[in-house]
Amino acid sequence: MRMYDIIKKKRDGGELTTEEINYFIGGVTDGSIPDYQISALCMAIYFRGMTDRETCDLTFAVRDSGEKVDFSAINGIRVDKHSTGGVGDKTSLVVAPIVASYGIKVAKMSGRGLGHTGGTVDKLEAINGFRTTLSDDEFIGQVNKIGLAIVGQSKQFAPADKKLYALRDVTATVDSMPLIAASIMGKKLAADDDCIVLDVKTGSGSFMKTVDESRELARIMVDIGKRAGKKMVALITNMDRPLGYAIGNSLEVIEAVETLRGRGPADFKEVCITLAGYMLSLAGKGSPEECKQLARKAIENGSALDKLVETVKAQGGDGALILDTQKFAKSAYSHAVKSPQSGFIRSVDAEAYGLASLALGAGRNTVDDKIDFSAGIILSKKTGDYVAAGEEIATLYSNNVAAFEVAENRLLAATELSEEKPVDEPLIYDIIE
Ligand code: URA
Repeated sequence: MRMYDIIKKKRDGGELTTEEINYFIGGVTDGSIPDYQISALCMAIYFRGMTDRETCDLTFAVRDSGEKVDFSAINGIRVDKHSTGGVGDKTSLVVAPIVASYGIKVAKMSGRGLGHTGGTVDKLEAINGFRTTLSDDEFIGQVNKIGLAIVGQSKQFAPADKKLYALRDVTATVDSMPLIAASIMGKKLAADDDCIVLDVKTGSGSFMKTVDESRELARIMVDIGKRAGKKMVALITNMDRPLGYAIGNSLEVIEAVETLRGRGPADFKEVCITLAGYMLSLAGKGSPEECKQLARKAIENGSALDKLVETVKAQGGDGALILDTQKFAKSAYSHAVKSPQSGFIRSVDAEAYGLASLALGAGRNTVDDKIDFSAGIILSKKTGDYVAAGEEIATLYSNNVAAFEVAENRLLAATELSEEKPVDEPLIYDIIE
């Protein structure tokens, strides 16, 4: 088999066989296929797409490309949720403790920030001492003991995805439906959870910009999961605006803790309750409505917050920061962004908000960049709110005062005002079961 022929076949709109897809992923994994041929095939897939059968084969090949962690030593049902990536998306920090507080096991392997989107692992590392790398025995032991552990993915885990993602990131081929589906589901299936809830983001801050595209991506991923014998649900949620008010690592941890104390922003809380409700429901705790009620209860009675504190301490983190979030290190500088005009915020470009936060130091431009955990944005106004000329729409935080100008310009250019109050968009567009 020759990589040249596989690229040519896909370039010309052909359907790749299972053997050709396995050959490709095998070569990605063992390094025998050079980056330029991998990138060329990604671009051909980007333009030509894949059939459901090809996407499924690609996913299974990614799943099988690395070591499998043997989770059979974990007692009980394991549930996971995965977001396709968004801005201000700190849902894992809230839903995982809610679900674990009911005795359901959450053995979570999370990612770091990608482009304009944040990652759970970076957010957790904003907590002093928190270890996002555990040995398999530590990971399994902690899940069995307290029901929840959250780590980053090890190098041996679905390594084909690591390689592919790095190349897609620099060749403008991230936002391809089959490549996203295989990347996310390849990793999820390698983790081998029993039940998976997908949070498929849609809108300006997500990789899928329209509801129809997101619905199609959700359908493909749910199908793949079911073929692999998993219980699956996908929620299509609004990412036309950042979720909640906080963007940036420690700022988001603080907002997640506030939410677990019952004081979180309404939009963020609603998405968390719905995701946690479906996770509990798939795990057999009742109907989605009953389980959403359970999720609310875990916030009201403090058991979810207790579970987060327990998890942070178990992974070496400073639990005092969660109990008193005032103790998080603050940025040396802050800057108020004021609206030049009056009007209702008609729309925002959430991706540009994410990039503004990145410019402040909250994300990486290259894999080697160090994150400024205290950097980011606290919004004062969101889509639909009225803002008077000169009124603050956001506060920027950074240890690099020079970054404020770029971030402010990005934010203002990404915020569109109108005289009329815009019609409210749904927070959750659809649920694919
Ligand atoms: N998240 C992933 O893990 N992979 C993608 O391709 C997109 C989002």
